[in-house]
Amino acid sequence: CGIVGYIGNRDSQDILLEGLKKLEYRGYDSAGIAVFTTNGLEIKKSKGRLAVLEDKLKGDPLEGSVGIGHTRWATHGKPSDVNSHPHTDNSMKFSVVHNGIVENYLELKEELIAKGRVFVSETDTEVISHLVADEYDGNIVEAVQRAVKRMRGAFALGVLTEYEPEKLVAVRFASPLVIGIGQGENFIGSDIPAILEHTRDVYILNDGEMAVLTRNGVELMTTEGETISKEIFHVDWDIVTAEKAGFDHFMLKEIYEQPKAYRDTMLGRMADDGKSVNLKELSMSADYIKSIRKVHIVACGTAYHAGLVGKSVIESLARIPVETDVASEYRYRSPIITPDTLVIVVSQSGETADTLAALREAQKNGAKVLAITNVVGSSVAREADDVIVTWAGPEIAVASTKAYTSQLIAFYLFGLHLAGVLGTQEQAEVEALIAGLHALPEQVESILEQAAVLKQVAESMSHHKSLFFIGRGVDYAVAQEGSLKLKEISYIHSEAYAAGELKHGTLALIEEGIPVIALVTQEALYEKTLSNIKEVKARGAHVLAVANNGSEEEVAKSVDEILAIPKTLPILSPALAVVPLQLLSYYASLALGHDVDKPRNLAKSVTVE
Ligand code: G6P
Repeated sequence: CGIVGYIGNRDSQDILLEGLKKLEYRGYDSAGIAVFTTNGLEIKKSKGRLAVLEDKLKGDPLEGSVGIGHTRWATHGKPSDVNSHPHTDNSMKFSVVHNGIVENYLELKEELIAKGRVFVSETDTEVISHLVADEYDGNIVEAVQRAVKRMRGAFALGVLTEYEPEKLVAVRFASPLVIGIGQGENFIGSDIPAILEHTRDVYILNDGEMAVLTRNGVELMTTEGETISKEIFHVDWDIVTAEKAGFDHFMLKEIYEQPKAYRDTMLGRMADDGKSVNLKELSMSADYIKSIRKVHIVACGTAYHAGLVGKSVIESLARIPVETDVASEYRYRSPIITPDTLVIVVSQSGETADTLAALREAQKNGAKVLAITNVVGSSVAREADDVIVTWAGPEIAVASTKAYTSQLIAFYLFGLHLAGVLGTQEQAEVEALIAGLHALPEQVESILEQAAVLKQVAESMSHHKSLFFIGRGVDYAVAQEGSLKLKEISYIHSEAYAAGELKHGTLALIEEGIPVIALVTQEALYEKTLSNIKEVKARGAHVLAVANNGSEEEVAKSVDEILAIPKTLPILSPALAVVPLQLLSYYASLALGHDVDKPRNLAKSVTVE
C-alpha cells in the first residue's frame, strides 16, 4: 500500500495523485483521496488503477489544500470501492489512510458496533476511523494517541478531522512513514518517491513516533505524547533509486526486506503466551483436519520449491503423508484426489494459470483447497476454500525471494496449526518451534551482514559455465531453490542434486575446478553429506559449504570455503540457508552485467499454461 498526504496552500488533489502515481511501481488494486473542500471532508475512491480514480475526479474535482491519499494492496477485504481508502466514520468528520495490519481489529470492531457504530467495509482501517472518532473529545492528537494505544499490529497512519482542518496527523508503528518538509507546506509519504518531487528534506519516523503537520511546521512526538527532535534527512537519490529505497535493485531490496516479511507473516498468528499457533483466518474445522488422510502441494517455480519444504514440515509436524507436484504436471498425471485429500496451492501472485488449473481440478474431485498466496483478492485466493496470506508485501523483482521465504513461514505456521489440532507434537516441541520462528528475523539479519563475503564468492563463481548445489533432506529442497535462482538471473547453468544421488550418474560431470555449493545444515545427515562432499572434492570440485555456526570448524576441514549461518531447529533451517544463496545469485548476475530484476525470457507472473 502507499500513503501520501499534503497540507499547504496549493491545490492538494494533483499533488496527491502525482504522489500516488510515484507509488504505482509497488502494484495496487485501488486508490482514493480525501480532501477538505468548502463542503467539508470529501472522499473519492475506486477499485482499479489510478486512472479510474483520475477519471472520476476529472468531471468533479476535490478542491482544497489539505488532503490524504492512498493506494491499496488488499489485506483485509477484497479490492472494491468500499474497501478502498481513505476510510471515515459515521459522522464523516474523520478520515484515515493506513498501511499495515491491525491485529486486534475484530475485537475493536465488535466493541465499536456495540456502541452503535455502523461499518460499511471489511477493512481493519475503517475500525481505526471509528476508533479515533470514538476517542475524540476536542483534541485530534490525543484522540489518535489513545486510539493507537488500543491497536496492536503494524501500521502507518495519516489522519484528518474536519474539526481541526489545520492539522494532519501521522503515526508510525512498524510500517514505514516519512514526513516531507517544505516551505509553507508539508507532506507525508509511506515511501520517499511519493514526495520527492516537492522536497528532499524529510524526517524518517521510527516506531512509536508521530508527527503533527500544519502548513508552517511539523511537531514531532512519541505516541505517548513526549516531544522529540530529529535530524533532517536529506535525500540525494533520484526517483529510480528512491523507488528501491536506496538499493541498486528491487531484488536486493526484497532480500533485505525478509526479516520484516517473516515478522509480518507471523504477526497475529501466535497465541499471546507463545505456546501455540492460531490461524484464525482458516475456516477448516478441527473435525475436518482430523479427517485429512493426505495432502497434495501444488505450485510452480519458486513456490513449488517452498512446497518441497512444506512437505517435510507437514509430514514431520502433523504426520500426514504429503506429495508435492509442479502444477503443470499435476492435472495430467491423474492424481488420486479424494474428499479426504487437502490440496495446498502455493502462489506468490495467485494468478499462475497452471496453479489455478490444478486448484480447479482438485475442487472438481471433491477436495478442499488451501491457498498460500501473497495477493489478497487474487484468483487463487478467491477460488480456494481457505487462504493463508503471506504478508511479504509486493514483490517486484522477477526472481522471487521474500515471497518464497514467507511461504516457508506460512508452512511452519500451518504445520503447527495442524499439530495443535491433531496433538502430534509434544508441547515442549511446539514451544521450541515457536521460539525458533521468532528468532529467525534476527538470524537473517546476521546473514545479510555477510553480504560482502558472498559478493566475492559470487564474482569468482560467475566465471564458470556450470555448477552444482547439493544437500540432503530439506537442504536438498533449498539446493533446488538456490539453483533456480542462479539460473534465472545469472544464466549460469546449474543443477541441484540430492547429495547422496550424485554418485549414481551426475558425478560424471564433476571435473577440476567446478564449483559445488553444499548445504550442510541437517546435523542428523551431517556425516553422510560430508562423505558426498569428499566424493566431489576427490574429483577436483571447489566446494563452498553453507553450515551451521558451531559445526563450521568440522565442516571446514572437508571444503574450500565455508559460510556459517546461525543455528536453528533443523526443520526451520531453509528459512536461513536460502538467504546466502539468494545473495550469491544476485551478485553473480551483477558481476555478469545482467538485468537482475528483469531476466531474459521470464515473467513475474505466467498466466498461460
Ligand atoms: C513465474 C516466475 C517465478 C515464479 C512462478 C510461480 O515463472 O518467474 O519466479 O516462482 O511464476 O509464480 P507464483 O506467482 O504462482 O508464485
